[in-house]
This record gives sequence, C-alpha cells and structure tokens, in this order.
Amino acid sequence: MAQTVLKWHGHACFEVETKNKRIIVDPFITGNPKSDLTKEEVKADIVLVTHGHTDHLGDAVEIALKNGATLVTMVELGWALQAKHPDLKVHAINYSGTVNVGGIDITSVLAFHTSSLDGGYAGNPMGMVFGDSLKIYHAGDTGVFKDMELIRELYHPQISLLPIGGYYTMHVKEATYAASMLRSKYTIPMHYNTFDAIRSDPVLFKNNVEKAGYSSVIIAEVGKEIKFDDSGNRLD
Ligand code: NI
Ligand code: MN
Repeated sequence: MAQTVLKWHGHACFEVETKNKRIIVDPFITGNPKSDLTKEEVKADIVLVTHGHTDHLGDAVEIALKNGATLVTMVELGWALQAKHPDLKVHAINYSGTVNVGGIDITSVLAFHTSSLDGGYAGNPMGMVFGDSLKIYHAGDTGVFKDMELIRELYHPQISLLPIGGYYTMHVKEATYAASMLRSKYTIPMHYNTFDAIRSDPVLFKNNVEKAGYSSVIIAEVGKEIKFDDSGNRLD
C-alpha cells in the first residue's frame, strides 16, 4: 500500500516522503536547538520554504544545491536566492499558484505574517498545501485568519501543520480556532518550545481541539516517523 511518511525535525521543519519523492519544508537545521539532523545528511528532491526569516529559510539553499533539488517559494524570495546562486533550481510562485514537481502538487496559500531576506524585501510569506492524493497544509508562520476556511473548501488537507508558539504566530487559542476552520483529520502542532519566546503547551492544544471535535491532534516527537495511507488514515 502506498504510504506517506512524515517526520518533524523541530520548529517548522518537516520531512515528508510520498510517491517516492522526498520533500523537506523550512529546513532550519543549523542553529536549531531542537533539530536532530545535520544539513549534510538530508536527502531531498523538493525543498519548500514558506518565507525568508532565518528560522525557515535555514539551510534550504545548501540542501537544494547539494541534492539538485527544486526549491519552491514566493516569487521575490525565489528570484533573490536565484540571483545569488545561479545553479539553484527554483519555482517562484505566488498565492493560489500551483506547481507540479515530479508528481507532487504544491500550492501557495495565504500566511498572515511578514518576510525578509538579509533585512531586505523578500515578498510576502506563504503557507503551502502539497501532496498527491494526500494533501498536507504547512501553515508557515501565521496569525489566525478567517480565510483558512477557504483552504479547507478548496484543498481539503487531511493533515494540517499549525504553529502554536505565540509571540510571532498563533498561540493555542488562535490555533484551536484555526483547527475549527480547517477540520483536517489530523493536526500537528509546530513552532513551539524552540526558544523561550515561543513557550506553549501542545497537550492543552490537543485537549482543546479534540474536546471540540475539530481534529485529532498528533504531538509529534522529533525524528520519529508518522505514517499515513493515501486517504490520510494513520498507519502506526
Ligand atoms: Ni517568520
Ligand atoms: Mn518562525
């Protein structure tokens, strides 16, 4: 049976293996106190970057260059990275744009946040919905916004990855509201407890969301595989 394997590597970094493609999102490895990886060991076909902040762009360029992977991000950030690294393979998309890389659709969706590259303009941030039949929504860094309903209505992500750390993004209250709009089968909290500023309680989030019946919450352990079938049912 075809399966999708997801691994959290701390903060907003996830590895997803689906349809024989290896995808890494927001590979903040160097300097991430929660990361279990080294940038050298990452194998990737596709690198997704939600915005230019260093805790998301991270080691993305080096990983993409070393693996010959395609990097997908926002137009202005993608162009800026390509100008600095002419060998980088980039798809620089914008909101509602979809690109297919090796059979995997990646769609840009709104994120209510900011972005920059080396202190300069890097376009807007984004969330991404990606996958084949199994759709995963990585919210990036975002505050809560009502158009998360649109993400559900258009793309029906079975798995949503939501920040709950507060300060820069949603905290538990807002992320619980987000889960109520998204109604994904599974929700995985991220972007918390990496630093003191983003202290949060994933168990409180899980209890709130599950008591209300919005979604099943998986509190991911760093580096541990979580497996799903093509319909988004958990296999382990
Ligand atoms: Ni950010
Ligand atoms: Mn961040």
